[in-house]
Amino acid sequence: MKDSKIILIGDGAVGSSFAYSSSLLGVGRELGIIDINEQRVEGDVLDLTDALSFTYPKKVYKADYSDCSDAEVVVITAGIPQKPGETRLQLVDKNLAIFKDMIGKVVDSGFDGIFLIASNPVDITTYATLKFSGFPAHKVIGSGTTLDTSRFKKRLGELLGVDYRSVNAYIMGEHGDTEFPVWSNANVGGLNIEEWRKTHPEVTEEALDKAFDQTVNAAYEIIDRKGATFYGIGTALTAIVRAILNDEDAVFLTSSYLDGQFGQEDIYVGVPTVIGKTGAKHIIEVPLSDEEKEKLDHSVKTLKEIISNSQL
Ligand code: 2OP
Repeated sequence: MKDSKIILIGDGAVGSSFAYSSSLLGVGRELGIIDINEQRVEGDVLDLTDALSFTYPKKVYKADYSDCSDAEVVVITAGIPQKPGETRLQLVDKNLAIFKDMIGKVVDSGFDGIFLIASNPVDITTYATLKFSGFPAHKVIGSGTTLDTSRFKKRLGELLGVDYRSVNAYIMGEHGDTEFPVWSNANVGGLNIEEWRKTHPEVTEEALDKAFDQTVNAAYEIIDRKGATFYGIGTALTAIVRAILNDEDAVFLTSSYLDGQFGQEDIYVGVPTVIGKTGAKHIIEVPLSDEEKEKLDHSVKTLKEIISNSQL
């Protein structure tokens, strides 16, 4: 990997999991960390530096906003986290005020790279970043349904008895309660799931629905038990950042800006997106069944209502 600088804003559980996983996987040569809790950053810098002697060379340090000026990627995980029982959308107003301040400071530094947002509700905070930054939409990306898609593939793989990496299946829409599975193009090694079921009668419709239910409820299950989710999302962020820095042109279900795609516009939502050096290079307009298109429209409508009732 060539020289590459990442700034992380938000050193809570998600941010430090990103810092740790990106260090273990050798993603980025330089990682500057910003958080209002400076002591926490100082502690993490010392701790991560200890870990780095066993992994890859990397400069990790406590940063300030001026350090964003020549960064390739600014990753934002800052914000007030979801409490047990609270939906991601209930966090909106608390987090938008924080975003306005942060994004303004990043832009004032002269930053000209890619924003990658993970703070919830991620589709809304990503939209807010677009509006507050004035950046072109391809340079502002949210984590979207990247993690949900991987959770879904994992559960389908277990159900079908194949490695989840050989399952192609997407979760699209809001990263939250209105997300939906794209059953119409879900396949195993190229064979549509419906076709697969003809020779595997044990894979019932109920079992498939359960795999989706477990996916959409995964974060609630984790938050109920340990108060927060962080390893999954932290590592998903590392994979997206790696795709940007290495110009991989890999497909992720990022929260990407729709400008006519899927018949929708001026909204961020989880859709298959080619990710590389310039950010969201291209949205893949997978064919959706009528029911799936209705679900996407419902997700978009839900998010647009939140935006119109917010201070955006
Ligand atoms: C997750 O899905 C809470 O959005 C976070 O793990």
